[in-house]
Amino acid sequence: MAAVSRRNPATFKNRIKSSYPTLVNLGILISGRGSNMDAILSTVQAGRIRNVKPCVVISNKADAAGLKIASEKYRVPTEVVPAEGLKGWDYDQKIVAALQKHDVLPQAGLVCLAGFMRIISPEFVRAYKMRILNIHPALLPSFPGLHAQKLALDYGVKVTGCTVHFVDEEIDSGPVILQKPVPVLEGDTEETLSARILEQEHQLYPEAVRLFADGRLKVDGRVVAIAPG
Ligand code: GRF
Repeated sequence: MAAVSRRNPATFKNRIKSSYPTLVNLGILISGRGSNMDAILSTVQAGRIRNVKPCVVISNKADAAGLKIASEKYRVPTEVVPAEGLKGWDYDQKIVAALQKHDVLPQAGLVCLAGFMRIISPEFVRAYKMRILNIHPALLPSFPGLHAQKLALDYGVKVTGCTVHFVDEEIDSGPVILQKPVPVLEGDTEETLSARILEQEHQLYPEAVRLFADGRLKVDGRVVAIAPG
């Protein structure tokens, strides 16, 4: 490889270009408090995720607390897309339109589900193939669906945790990107366990977004390999 130096500006420029991929436009979908959204946006703001541009936060609920955090703390545009009885693709088309309005485009953008309490339609998944991430408060494939922390407690497992995964056409079933174990402690309640898992979620989700944006995730069937940084 040619030596990179300031005396060889063309090579230097090429190096800069190749080590900084184009920014990935990010849309985050929420329904409530938005603490995972907050963790992602704060990591971007701190400069620890270089290749992402937060473009929009979208909620299906007008009173989602995360909307205020997005607009006031991070100055990220927000959109409310109420369901008004719409289901599946009939509703998701509106979400896709809101994403596109803010340049989070199919086959180019990244969509993070962060406590978005709706099931995504297959059409939406296909439009943003392998570009939608979700965080789940259990070690998938254990305890998919709602109330994962309570299910783990009731089952009596000694270790649970959280998972960031690609979204596919089933619920909580796409290829796993990162997982973090959390021990279940004697005397844990749903609240105490959820709080300890949430702390780990706030580390894990930004890290997965960073790996995605840096182009380090290689998906082969169900298996996600992480290229060295
Ligand atoms: C988190 O526990 C996440 O794992 C689950 O929904 C919750 C969202 O919390 N998918 P928040 O809105 O990010 O605070």
